[in-house]
Amino acid sequence: MVSSPPSGGRGRRRPLTRGNAIVLIGLMGTGKTTVGRIISQQIGALHLDTDGEIERREQKTVAEIFSEKGEPYFRDAETETLRRIRRRPPNRRLVLSTGGGLPLREENAKMLRQLGTVVWLRADPETLVKRVERKLAMRPLLAVDELPLHERMAKLCAERNDSYEKLADLIFDTHLDVHASVIAASILDQCY
Ligand code: S3P
Repeated sequence: MVSSPPSGGRGRRRPLTRGNAIVLIGLMGTGKTTVGRIISQQIGALHLDTDGEIERREQKTVAEIFSEKGEPYFRDAETETLRRIRRRPPNRRLVLSTGGGLPLREENAKMLRQLGTVVWLRADPETLVKRVERKLAMRPLLAVDELPLHERMAKLCAERNDSYEKLADLIFDTHLDVHASVIAASILDQCY
């Protein structure tokens, strides 16, 4: 596992008034929710997961929202969720795990940057396929496509990795067989 600031330097993108949240971004299967939960337990922070917040408000799973209301509705719900999170009283440190597609909308990326340090959990398509293949029904973007799973994942990596990299302050490779608690500890080392 390596951690590094992405090329281009961090200072250039860091706004003057930036929050102290730890924001986890990356594709499905990178461990954002698990790592976020561990970090928040260790520092006594509030842990929010954007998919979880949307499911709670809608009283439906992400898969149900996609099939009943469509992806554009879900994407708008992601933006609305982020706006709400930004408005919360800043009385407790926040660890935020985000849905894989959320950072791709520019408005969302801007809000994530303002919330705090953005950490990209990076992994290669092979690792991601291994991690998600048993739970495909929960992931509508992977379930509906006609391409084989590995090709679909490779395509998503190719489409999204540049955006994740541009947004990230820190990058952690999670494709090695490293336990989520080790990744969480490394992130905390860098963020404190
Ligand atoms: C999505 C990722 C999912 C969820 C939705 C769409 C994406 O979240 O938001 O199925 O576009 O990559 P996870 O990354 O937490 O699986």
